[in-house]
Amino acid sequence: TDPIRLGIAGLGTVGRGVVRIVQTHRDLLASRAGRPVEIVAVSARSRKDRGVPLDAYAWEDDPVALARRDDIDVFVEVMGGAAGPAKDATEAALAAGKDVVTANKALLAIHGHALAEAAEATGRVIRFEAAVAGGIPVIKALTEGLAGNEIRRVMGVMNGTCNYILTRMENAGLTYDEAFAEADGLGYLEADPELDVGGIDAGHKLALLAAIAFGTRVDFPNVRLEGIGSVTIEDIRQAADMGYKIKLLGVAQMTGRGLEQRMSPCLVPDTSPLGQLQGGTNMVVLEGDAVGQIVLRGAGAGEGPTASAVIGDVIDIARGLRLPTFGQPVGALRQARAAYAAVP
Ligand code: HSE
Repeated sequence: TDPIRLGIAGLGTVGRGVVRIVQTHRDLLASRAGRPVEIVAVSARSRKDRGVPLDAYAWEDDPVALARRDDIDVFVEVMGGAAGPAKDATEAALAAGKDVVTANKALLAIHGHALAEAAEATGRVIRFEAAVAGGIPVIKALTEGLAGNEIRRVMGVMNGTCNYILTRMENAGLTYDEAFAEADGLGYLEADPELDVGGIDAGHKLALLAAIAFGTRVDFPNVRLEGIGSVTIEDIRQAADMGYKIKLLGVAQMTGRGLEQRMSPCLVPDTSPLGQLQGGTNMVVLEGDAVGQIVLRGAGAGEGPTASAVIGDVIDIARGLRLPTFGQPVGALRQARAAYAAVP
């Protein structure tokens, strides 16, 4: 059988993890996919050593050129960035008839609808499990496992860095600035830390989950955002006295006034699964009318977990599973829901 041939754009933490899984799990992936999974070409900003053998792959300096190569079937975008090369290359890949697997939450949260339309127009697919809660297969849970449910609510802690900072303030009595410096020293923070502590990164993820859960157009501008920068030790102590933890919690639900999406520091009971979540971990709580509440917990970032989600999408595509980007064609979104008003 024909192999599925990958072009990987970006050889940072996630790209390296994808290369590693493809190289170490050759037979496993071939048996799961029903065909060999092969990397054909890669691109990155520099040709420095990445700690994985790359000699067998063609090299492109330009991700757009990689996206257009005749010898790839799937364009794997793990560069990041909501504009510029990641966007150009993703558009080029779709235009050239490639399927796309991406870990890029910012790109999808802002341009997801247009990209999904472009994919539908040419019969290609974009899958982005790795963009939301890293290794937790929450998109597959929503679009496949919970397909028989009307989703009532989606909640979660979707930024591990913020959870780490809040947990350190709580457990070690660090001030916000001290905990932030510690997270920085561990390399947790995004290049622009405001993406983390301002709740923006988590807001991107929530907007993507909400679009899938409620069949709406992805609408990041209407996520009510509040970061963790104003949370003090005193807040955390007072919450603890009342039996609560403070978490940067995302909540999306359909209300009489339309879709409500907010990402903000919230009090959660310290005995609840969300209250027990420690360190740089993620947790997503899904509520469906038939299934009730389910809780998913795991690593929301890092090489192995994020690459795990990327490979899962690659295998789906290799098997011929051609789910639309948001679980349903964006061209068929119900107007009533697409046109909801912002919740005041
Ligand atoms: N900065 C993100 C986090 C990385 O801390 O969760 C994964 O998206």
